[in-house]
Amino acid sequence: MNILAKQSFRKGNGAMDILLTGGAGYIGSHTAVELINEGYGVIVADNYSNSSPEVIKRIEGAAGRLAAYDVDAGNEERLQQVFLKHQIDAVVHFAGYKAVGESVQQPLKYYENNLRALIATLKVMKDFRANTIIFSSSATVYGTSQAVPFDEGMDTGCTNPYGWTKLICEQILRDVAKAEEEFTPVILRYFNPVGAHESGLLGENPKGIPNNLMPYIQQVASGKLEKLSIFGNDYDTKDGTGIRDYIHVVDLAKGHVKALQYAQEHRGMEVFNLGTGKGYSVMEVVEAFEQANGVKIPYQITARRKGDVAESYADVSKARNVLGWEAEKTLEQMCRDAWRWENGVRSRLENEQFAI
Ligand code: NAD
Ligand code: UD1
Repeated sequence: MNILAKQSFRKGNGAMDILLTGGAGYIGSHTAVELINEGYGVIVADNYSNSSPEVIKRIEGAAGRLAAYDVDAGNEERLQQVFLKHQIDAVVHFAGYKAVGESVQQPLKYYENNLRALIATLKVMKDFRANTIIFSSSATVYGTSQAVPFDEGMDTGCTNPYGWTKLICEQILRDVAKAEEEFTPVILRYFNPVGAHESGLLGENPKGIPNNLMPYIQQVASGKLEKLSIFGNDYDTKDGTGIRDYIHVVDLAKGHVKALQYAQEHRGMEVFNLGTGKGYSVMEVVEAFEQANGVKIPYQITARRKGDVAESYADVSKARNVLGWEAEKTLEQMCRDAWRWENGVRSRLENEQFAI
């Protein structure tokens, strides 16, 4: 197939075609919407291991057309077919498993999927001379012994296999960038993404009982779960509960657009924190959710969760100064959008799951 015959959905002059591995997932779907809105052509390659093809229709409902393929990012041959069909200028690599607890129980599953998906993607990118990749990393790489706020120059270290897959992937990208002058990986270390698209069409749809705070609160509010367990109120924090940097998923998605723009004009590897720079305690999140949505969240205090740090929030000055990006949405908006999603499409999806 020659290049002229390749399919493109890009709209803007000078905009590019971007491959989103794992683009049907929570963060990928929101990023797809922002990219389409900015005129980029979006191609999704997802094996739907933690999402569904229906998400593609909802992205199109929120933003416009894209191309989507049921492809495992670890399968070089299948990925090559996608690169043959489209003139892919850059990749945003979301594909991977993300449940910390499961990674402790099944470490090989995590190492295999997360490393294979990145390595295969990089090999195919090299074959097709695509030099830019935006990689989804995590604040978890700052480990447990750092002082807040976390900045990109700090030492890294992990406490679980999921975190190690992120650190090893970062190292792979660093090594390839050293070996190949044109290669430009931009590593984004996300803090705590929460909330949902304000259209109500997209959001997080965790399978089973959620591990993370906001989705758990959502399901307590809807009555699916009886009460929230607050993991410890004896931390050295303002009210004794753990502090995190919650960031609205739409702000996070916009950070990817900025990272792509940055990568168009620079060469070599860069690392950026994507957070708000503000920390809220578990109690503050519970209160914010109650106030924003007029609901009650029953809770009990239980023991600390193993591996949790007291405080985690980002130094966001690098992203602000270099990318020109800053999170804008408030905790109240995060809570409101999360609740709209929980009550709308998500509850329908869950009912369908139970009906099967
Ligand atoms: P998600 O599970 O909703 O999305 C990941 C998507 O990747 C899913 O659609 C899944 O089906 C797909 N996938 C998994 N393995 C694949 C493979 N081998 N090939 C193709 N598709 C595959 O997760 P998310 O919250 O959107 O996270 C996206 C990325 O960001 C992940 O790499 C995750 O580790 C990272 N991250 C997430 C958070 C968070 O709190 N959500 C925080 C830090 C980093
Ligand atoms: C989790 C992941 C981490 C990932 C991060 C960002 C774990 C162990 N860690 O961490 O790898 O980078 O999300 O997505 O899963 N809490 C409760 N009750 C609950 C759930 C959580 O009190 O039912 C508390 C936690 O103790 C913590 C805060 O709420 O203080 C946030 O927890 P969570 O949403 O799981 O995020 P992280 O702990 O930051």
